[in-house]
Amino acid sequence: MTFPIAVLVSGSGSNLQAIIDAADTDPDFGARIVLVIADRDGVGGLGRAEVAGIPTVVVPWTDSASREAFSEAVADAAANAGAAALVLAGFMRILTREAVDRFPVLNIHPALLPSFPGAHGVRDALAYGAKVAGVTVHFVDEKVDHGPIIAQRCIPILPGDTEDSLHARIQIEEHDLYPEVVKALAHGRLRVEGRSVVWEGESP
Ligand code: GRF
Repeated sequence: MTFPIAVLVSGSGSNLQAIIDAADTDPDFGARIVLVIADRDGVGGLGRAEVAGIPTVVVPWTDSASREAFSEAVADAAANAGAAALVLAGFMRILTREAVDRFPVLNIHPALLPSFPGAHGVRDALAYGAKVAGVTVHFVDEKVDHGPIIAQRCIPILPGDTEDSLHARIQIEEHDLYPEVVKALAHGRLRVEGRSVVWEGESP
């Protein structure tokens, strides 16, 4: 039995690709992407899903849409596809508490939370003069970039780094770490105790 997940994207979908690749190459991966959901048409993540033969749906976000209606439509689409968890992979919308209470929801953020939450974590760490950047995978709650932290990796900030050069190094770690966390979730190895996530067995 594989653990069915829906992956949510708003952009290029390189993290989605890393999960697709892990599912293809690791016989013990344990998770299967049953649906890719995007908040707008034409994003790279949709193309990657189509190439991989994964069903896709666009739940369009428009300025007039309420967050409640949007979140419910996203959660309904995932539930109707049989997903048991949501994996946010560069998804740029905040879902309501009602929606995130329906599933375990994972997110990946390109900074060491709780530092530098929000849409510009890499840029903000550079602007602050931090010496270390990083990546955080966490459970999603109703607040932005806030839920219990599952895994983190540090990435040194080098002299002369730009947002692009630093983000490129962060993404190398993301593509390694996110599939590992999805695999652990699929195998039931993540337990939440208050704000802490306890890994059963080895953690990355
Ligand atoms: C990643 O850096 C992730 O940390 C952030 O958005 C970016 C998405 O990249 N949340 P991609 O679409 O997976 O290439």
